[in-house]
Amino acid sequence: MVMGELTVETDVAVIGGGPGGYVAALRAAQLGKSVTLIEKERLGGICLNVGCIPSKALIHAADLFDEIKGAEKFGIKVGKPEIDAGKMQEWKQNVVDKLVSGIEQLCKNYGVDVVHGEAFFESADKLIVKGEHGTSGVKFRNAIIATGSRPVEIKGFEFSKKNVVDSTGALSLKEIPKEIVVIGGGYIGLELGTVYAKLGSNVSIIERGPQLIPRADSDVARVVTKRLEQLGVKIYLNAEAKGIIEVDEKNIVKIKTAEKEIEIPADKVLVAVGRKPNSEHIGLDKTQVKVNSKGFIMIDQFCRTSQQNIYAIGDVAGDPMLAHKGFRQGKVAAEVIAGKKSAFDNVVVPEVIFSDPEIASVGLSEREAFDRSIKIKVGKFPLAASGRAMGLGRTEGFMKIISDAEGKQILGVHLVSPNASDMIAEAALAMELGTTVEDLALTIHPHPTLSEAIAEAAEDLLGKIVHLYKPAKKA
Ligand code: NAI
Repeated sequence: MVMGELTVETDVAVIGGGPGGYVAALRAAQLGKSVTLIEKERLGGICLNVGCIPSKALIHAADLFDEIKGAEKFGIKVGKPEIDAGKMQEWKQNVVDKLVSGIEQLCKNYGVDVVHGEAFFESADKLIVKGEHGTSGVKFRNAIIATGSRPVEIKGFEFSKKNVVDSTGALSLKEIPKEIVVIGGGYIGLELGTVYAKLGSNVSIIERGPQLIPRADSDVARVVTKRLEQLGVKIYLNAEAKGIIEVDEKNIVKIKTAEKEIEIPADKVLVAVGRKPNSEHIGLDKTQVKVNSKGFIMIDQFCRTSQQNIYAIGDVAGDPMLAHKGFRQGKVAAEVIAGKKSAFDNVVVPEVIFSDPEIASVGLSEREAFDRSIKIKVGKFPLAASGRAMGLGRTEGFMKIISDAEGKQILGVHLVSPNASDMIAEAALAMELGTTVEDLALTIHPHPTLSEAIAEAAEDLLGKIVHLYKPAKKA
């Protein structure tokens, strides 16, 4: 306790103003609670400031540049396009700044008290906040921990090293690097690897697993792998990054594959090998809040921790570390605190990788079904047979539906397609409502659209597809 500190009292103290935290704060205020939201940087958190939003802005810019370069096949002649990396950054930052000020305004409108500083538990009903202007106290009836996560570091590639960057660093490069080595072929590796390949960098992806996105089905990984190779990306699988040396002012990344050791020149090295929860250094030892072996705060379906008046949401409360899961949990925690009947009882959390083409999934994959010895049926429709995909010049990819062995219950849906990110919501809704494969097949999808492929995949699963020739099996 600091002598003479100012202490405010609040119904709900929210620690962290990212997607989980600010949504929890707004919802709690909407439900009549007094709310103090404590954030040490800018409202919006990683997602809005240095993650989801700026990366998607850059992905769009890189896609546009790539499309302009390939416009001739559509009969459009353009001069050689050029990149102004500074202008691109400016545009991206404008998008971010507008959204941040939108959240600031929402907090003002709803009466959320935003405190800038770093919060630590002093007890199970009091936080100490260290800010620019000193230390203050926040006495709370309920607290919501929404402190998020941070990138995992690997030995030899510490972020303190010159030219080694995490996704935040990779999103704010003022120049397009000539050579970029990406360690990790997961979400960030694929998204930012694709961006820089399209913007003209020589990109190498080093992945420890036997395929890119090792968790995904191999047919999913195959499509994006092929596209990355078309873009000139070198992919090293079953590979380990051993270290980085400087030769004649150039960085050389040493990697080891099953067969050999390779040296790759690099102006920048992006390390994207996963994230870990920010659960240390916030004084949890002053409370009954418990973390698991990976450091994630343990919660129940009401987002409540082992300390009855403290809740945890978003990345710090476990996988999947996705903003939209945080949004939902934020609302649940606020509603439970306000005495409403609410729980995180969602059937699925959709996942999207903004690769090229995009990958979007809900529910079970074929790989998971196999691992768990679950008998399934699979229906699949290739975009090569879609008129809309042909008109877009994007026929790689497919849509796949996985059901129970009877072909009734939808267990998973996987889209590898342009705009998969927007179309997956249909599958998520179908699974939340418990609709059957037949319901999907019978739903009229507008023609000609990519979304038709979902209904086609459902018809394939049911053995009644007409847009693919499937000779009847002989008895
Ligand atoms: P990730 O878990 O998606 O991928 C990490 C990859 O690195 C894995 O394929 C893993 O096998 C590989 N790996 C691990 N250690 C390695 C090593 N030493 N050498 C080589 N490869 C290694 O993690 P990533 O890409 O860092 O993203 C972190 C998280 O951020 C994601 O899991 C996701 O929750 C979130 N995210 C979500 C996005 C979205 O929703 N579109 C976009 C970006 C991030």
